[in-house]
Amino acid sequence: MAKKSRSEVNLNIVKLWPTTLLAKRFSHFQQVNPALLKLFYEHRDREQRNPQQAYASKDDLLSQYPLHKELGQLAEFISQGIVEVAREANRGLWREGERVSVTLTGLWFQISNGFSFHEMHVHGNCSWSGVYYVQSGDCDTSPESHRGKQPNGLTRFYGPHVEHMAGGFGDYGNLYLHDNAWDSYPQDGKLCIFPSHIKHMPFPYNGEQDRVIVSFHAQVFNAKGTQDYEYSFNN
Ligand SMILES: [Fe+2]
Repeated sequence: MAKKSRSEVNLNIVKLWPTTLLAKRFSHFQQVNPALLKLFYEHRDREQRNPQQAYASKDDLLSQYPLHKELGQLAEFISQGIVEVAREANRGLWREGERVSVTLTGLWFQISNGFSFHEMHVHGNCSWSGVYYVQSGDCDTSPESHRGKQPNGLTRFYGPHVEHMAGGFGDYGNLYLHDNAWDSYPQDGKLCIFPSHIKHMPFPYNGEQDRVIVSFHAQVFNAKGTQDYEYSFNN
């Protein structure tokens, strides 16, 4: 859909409640990812708890491998990313300069192929969730790469407008409701962090190489080490 230039600002218009996500690349991915792949395939082949082409480990991976150097480096990068995006989303609400801490309440890996996928879902008991692409394989890399066909392996996020698509009133006046999804294109070493309540779905993946990702969710604590906040947002 052709989009209007954002530079044409009408000062009479109020736009509310943006969604904040973070997408960035891990500068050490070329060193870290091969070690993660070795760990993950060895783990999968030893454990054999799921089908090989739709494999998901348990979400306590950090407890299972507390001393794994590269997994620890990735967890640190993820934690820093969560602080980065949460600080931005809470700009004006968090106390100035406050140091916060992150607990990764779950972290697991998934190996996909053979058109495996997960249905649309959200994550509970956490404020931020994310995906780190260890091996993007033959996933689509841009809108052009899947024009006219079903996307391969990308992660699609759905905005709140999607709630109003089924059975809702549609005409030219609310065409913007169709602008309700954003795609994260897998890329080796790319991290994407999103609010846990945002609906998302990895598209079916098929390729010569497996699609390998790390998924996670997290809670954020204030400087006192609690999750408390002051209730009034109007002071
Ligand atoms: Fe998810």
